[in-house]
Amino acid sequence: MPIKIVPPSPSNLHAAVEALRAGGLVAVPTETVYGLAADAANDRAVAQIFASKQRPAFNPLIIHFADAALAEGHVIFDGRARKLAKAFWPGPLTLVLPRTPGSRISLLASAGLDSLAVRVPCHPVALDVLKGLNRPLAAPSANVSGGISPSCAEHVLESFRGQDALQLILDGGACEGGIESTILNLMIEPAAILRPGLISREQIEAMIGPLSEVSKDNEQIISPGQMMRHYAPKTKVRLKAETVKSCEALLAFGPHTPQGSLKTLNLSVEGNLVEAAANLFAMLHALDRPQFSAIAVMDIPMTGIGVAINDRLRRAAT
Ligand code: TXA
Ligand code: MG
Repeated sequence: MPIKIVPPSPSNLHAAVEALRAGGLVAVPTETVYGLAADAANDRAVAQIFASKQRPAFNPLIIHFADAALAEGHVIFDGRARKLAKAFWPGPLTLVLPRTPGSRISLLASAGLDSLAVRVPCHPVALDVLKGLNRPLAAPSANVSGGISPSCAEHVLESFRGQDALQLILDGGACEGGIESTILNLMIEPAAILRPGLISREQIEAMIGPLSEVSKDNEQIISPGQMMRHYAPKTKVRLKAETVKSCEALLAFGPHTPQGSLKTLNLSVEGNLVEAAANLFAMLHALDRPQFSAIAVMDIPMTGIGVAINDRLRRAAT
């Protein structure tokens, strides 16, 4: 089905919400750039975001909420976060905060980190969708990885033309901001800017005092894949396993799996890489138990989103 650009009429907003509820992707305008949105609690839908964007690794996603109180159900706010949320939300400031243990946001969306990047956008269409769905949305910028960020509906179409996963682009006209939100890491004291954006350093410092100097340059430096702690199991991980020992757990892929493990979970019996990505962090987590001498992981093909899966597995194995 070709991708449709539609105005945000009540019936189109309803269709967008229904698509999201069913696990689909919808492009939504925000005040910064267009986002490629999915139900943040749906692993499969989140995996589809990574597949569609062809992100080379599972770079974590920003989780969008209709208001600050809803965000507080998923992250732990401190005094700084409260002040900043009060001053700048709804608006283009993303806060990285500790994830609450009970949060049901997809582990894949936060790339297995114990933090979550959250924001409340101030675009009326984004807010309408969030309220209609009544669930948080994971939404990276709606461009194929490496491409330019989309500040109008046509940019989104250019990026994703021919892809089945995206069917609907809600047209909110040109984005007012045009560049992404400022990302502030509140996991540390003093806080640090991970990505400069529409809210300036000075505006933030006026609210919570001096920020750390280290990362004012750009997001590459503290790109989560490089420096921050990613989920790595305590149990040893053995890659490209073709056989499995009786003391090991097996993380399988595809229909033909070696027998004899203490416990086996299959990332995708059908050999579907999007499904495998959706299951990756939750299954690693489930197999991370002291009774297993190692988690043996079968070979995952290096195609499409398989590149990102292998990137994470390599990190887990070192
Ligand atoms: O303005 C925006 O923020 C747009 C609109 C759609 O809201 N979204 C956006 O998302 O720019 P994206 O995926 O293109 O960029 C998300 C950035 C990435 O650099 C990622 O590394 C960082 O947020 N990020 C996400 N979760 C993080 C976390 N837990 N810790 C540190 N950085 C995180
Ligand atoms: Mg982006």
